[in-house]
Amino acid sequence: MCGIVAYTGPRDVAPVLLDALRRLEYRGYDSAGLAVLQTEESAPSLTIVRAVGKLDNLAQAISASDLPGQTGIGHTRWATHGRPSEANAHPHRSGPLAIVHNGIIENHLELKQALRAEGVEFQSDTDTEIVAHLLHKHLSPHGPREDALREALRRTLREIRGAYALAVVCEQAPDFVLLAKNSSPLVLGIGRGETLATSDIPALLSYTRDVVFLEDGELAELRPSGVHIETLDGTLVQRRSRRIDWSPVQAEKGGYKHFMLKEIFEQPRAIEDTLRGRLDLESGSLVLNELGLDAETARGISRICFIACGTSYHASLLGRHYVEKYARIPAQTELGSEVRYRDPVFTKGDLVIAVSQSGETLDTLAALEEAKRHGARTIALTNVLESAIARAADSALYTHAGPEIGVASTKAFTTQLVAMLMLSLELGRLRGTLPAPELLALLHALLEAPGSLRTTLEAHEAVLSVARKWHQSQNFLFLGRGLEFPIALEGALKLKEISYAHAEGYAAGEMKHGPIALIDEKMPVIVLIPDDRTYEKTFSNLEEVRARDGRVIAVATEGDERVKGVADDVLYIPKVHEAIAPLITTIPLQLLAYYVADLRGTDVDQPRNLAKTVTVE
Ligand code: F6R
Repeated sequence: MCGIVAYTGPRDVAPVLLDALRRLEYRGYDSAGLAVLQTEESAPSLTIVRAVGKLDNLAQAISASDLPGQTGIGHTRWATHGRPSEANAHPHRSGPLAIVHNGIIENHLELKQALRAEGVEFQSDTDTEIVAHLLHKHLSPHGPREDALREALRRTLREIRGAYALAVVCEQAPDFVLLAKNSSPLVLGIGRGETLATSDIPALLSYTRDVVFLEDGELAELRPSGVHIETLDGTLVQRRSRRIDWSPVQAEKGGYKHFMLKEIFEQPRAIEDTLRGRLDLESGSLVLNELGLDAETARGISRICFIACGTSYHASLLGRHYVEKYARIPAQTELGSEVRYRDPVFTKGDLVIAVSQSGETLDTLAALEEAKRHGARTIALTNVLESAIARAADSALYTHAGPEIGVASTKAFTTQLVAMLMLSLELGRLRGTLPAPELLALLHALLEAPGSLRTTLEAHEAVLSVARKWHQSQNFLFLGRGLEFPIALEGALKLKEISYAHAEGYAAGEMKHGPIALIDEKMPVIVLIPDDRTYEKTFSNLEEVRARDGRVIAVATEGDERVKGVADDVLYIPKVHEAIAPLITTIPLQLLAYYVADLRGTDVDQPRNLAKTVTVE
């Protein structure tokens, strides 16, 4: 996830771009840059300034250069292809034009090869630079520049696949910015004698409150006099602007009250980004080239060991299920803070997967290094490119969830589950343990997951009314079996860390071995009971709770009247493939934790005593 901005109008553009980028910095912050179209000379020229690290570094670099000009584009980067460096920072230039991009170009490898064969030299490791060169290649030297640029962009967009919000400036087209959108957000701002485009509303509110949202498959043009929108095939789009009344703080959170809530609702998009370019339905396989796995390596793995902490540990418990079921490899899950002090046994046949949102958790990193010392093959499964864990491991599988600001992990968890499932399926395919039709069904199930998540999120009001009913309870018990047991643990962790209520997650079958003594009419018991192979057994546990006057909040599959007949409240989820169900049952639990905490008035995004990145032992 990156942030982009474009401006044309009467103002000095560099300070405008920098101000907007500051408000977009939450979307990415490992490098930044801008391109200004200088028109003071007789022939307009582009100047590009880029810097690694926080925006202050870019601000310093700008103050050292003279940047007069009223049209320009800017970018704050959150690396997905190519490590954070000045060469990989945007804007990227080719000939007379420069571009900024937020998104991922899926077919960048083949396009790069083709361009190289034509003699194009690349300055960066990014997927974005390909777009700049394609645009340049298609830019006809004839006719009005704006028309030529628009046509070149159309041809380029027909060749690229993936997600993009793009902004283009060209030396031969002063006071003009060309934009395109597919999957990545882009909003246009219409001021008096000036126009802007940014990745998010907060970045343009200092200049105008009148905005137009660009839709997928549309191109837009910014001129000081106004915006022009059309579809890829040239049909004019007439869309009324909307007035935004948000306060600046509200705006930064995209209108949500807290970052955590925004991140919960971002999950369908985040999962689309995790999947992007990685499912090949035609060949019935997964594209995980970054891991360098082949059939021989996959068959040589004697054990898989996940190492993680906190929420990432809960995801890893599910990872074990996926690996055992689909790749038929013995698997285990270890807490980073425990395994390293246990004199653990790692061998050369082990594949150790360190799972960490931040990629910086010290206990996970130290355990990974210990495994490496013993000759294990290692993979980092992380959200942050070039993080310490990513650098320490032999290879990295990135989740591409975008920066997670709320301390309580949400979208990082569900995207980790998706990455683990993809990895397990690919291992199963390579080892021949997963029949092709079953694999294909699972690939389709993965593709449908974002849609099912959206449907589940639409039912958020139902979760809010359950939270209103129970938010003052002091104790909560979460029960789940099989794939739902880790989700029960995660639901309890989410609730306790942000609401400060006591919550425990338990394997449903273990309840009778102790926690059943806690059950009374005051304690809500959240029972995860989707329509899966353990349904009947979990139903018996649910009845055991009811028989002791326990209060049941069930998370069940749409249409389950049987559960409705015995539970106090039911939160329904759509029917999905068994492997996907844990992703979906997570949603009502995240929402429940959020609403309970908010109703209790806690500091949801920064709960007491916690830190987002734990670099202490
Ligand atoms: C809980 C939470 C923590 C982290 C844990 C590991 O919501 O965020 O439990 O999951 O500190 O962090 P990472 O995944 O960055 O290694």
